[in-house]
Amino acid sequence: MTSPTPPPPVSGHWTVPAGAASTFSWEYGDGRDRLLALYQRGKDRQWDAVRRIDWDLEVDPTDPLGTPDEALPLYGTPYWERLGPERRGELRQHVAAWQFSQFLHGEQGAMICAARIVETTPGLDAKFFAATQTMDEARHVEIFSRFLREKIGMSYPVDDSLRTLLDDTLRDSRWDMPYLGMQVLVEGMALAAFGLLRDTTRRPLPRRLLAYVMQDEARHVAFGRMALRDHYRGLTAAELAEREEFVVEGCHLMRNRLRGTEVLENFGVPRGAALRIAEENERLGVFRRALFSRIAPCVRDIGLWSPEVQEAFAGLCDGDVRGSDLDRLMRQDDEIAEALDARRFAAEERARAAEIDEMITEGADPDR
Ligand SMILES: [Fe+2]
Ligand SMILES: [Fe+2]
Repeated sequence: MTSPTPPPPVSGHWTVPAGAASTFSWEYGDGRDRLLALYQRGKDRQWDAVRRIDWDLEVDPTDPLGTPDEALPLYGTPYWERLGPERRGELRQHVAAWQFSQFLHGEQGAMICAARIVETTPGLDAKFFAATQTMDEARHVEIFSRFLREKIGMSYPVDDSLRTLLDDTLRDSRWDMPYLGMQVLVEGMALAAFGLLRDTTRRPLPRRLLAYVMQDEARHVAFGRMALRDHYRGLTAAELAEREEFVVEGCHLMRNRLRGTEVLENFGVPRGAALRIAEENERLGVFRRALFSRIAPCVRDIGLWSPEVQEAFAGLCDGDVRGSDLDRLMRQDDEIAEALDARRFAAEERARAAEIDEMITEGADPDR
């Protein structure tokens, strides 16, 4: 099989014209209690990626996640047999680079959308929260970009369907649309993908960074559900139908996004075969259904649950539109991150105690 070419350098800029107007609110004393409580939590839970993450943890670029090879799209095909051990390492590196690159570009989209919400949403309580979210997303961009540069050693450009979805959501002049596209769809799916990787990777560094990012995302999802549910209660049937259509189209776009066929093409697999492999791979199918099962309950919750939307999700989730129990999942996300911290600090505490013991022993008078 042909040796893969490194992906083109990710550089330059991309400009999307803004459609929405900036809105000031003079109602300084007002605010919904639940949103203000979430804002307080956003402030309380700020953290520094330089300090909280141990960046010295080693990562092997040819097996950055330590996930089973069965999870790779070429596994089990004749192409896999033709790859030698070295090429297989390169494939693992490219697949992880592609995946984390899409996370990275998505996080930048989330940062820009959160900043847009600060500008355009009418309520000051939502502006406050979105300001903390903007900072959270900046930290996520910082983390994924550092992981790609320092640990995996390559990045892929933004995938076409992700770019289209970002373009559509940011151009829209209605303030809720970037939020719906970015927070509910793109981040909802990203969160499900983070969770699957966090729970399957055998490498401590990616597990930690995914767990910490997910802990922040749980707040963002809670905010999206509250702010959009309130807003959608006041919309007309026609306005709701526009949002529902957007959700269905966005989900189909995202379904295409999950293929990552450019990586396979890069390894010499013809485009048609790459698409077929991505489509027929059983594990990828399970992965895709898991992603949509995390979005479905959120969409239902905010009130966009017409028969058309339900039918779309039935197709995407293989008939099971009930989806996951979001509240339970988010509580769990928070606990996993806290448990990782507790374990790390306990280990540091033990190391410190051992160091002190050693100092005491060295300093002790041998004649006593
Ligand atoms: Fe994020
Ligand atoms: Fe987020």
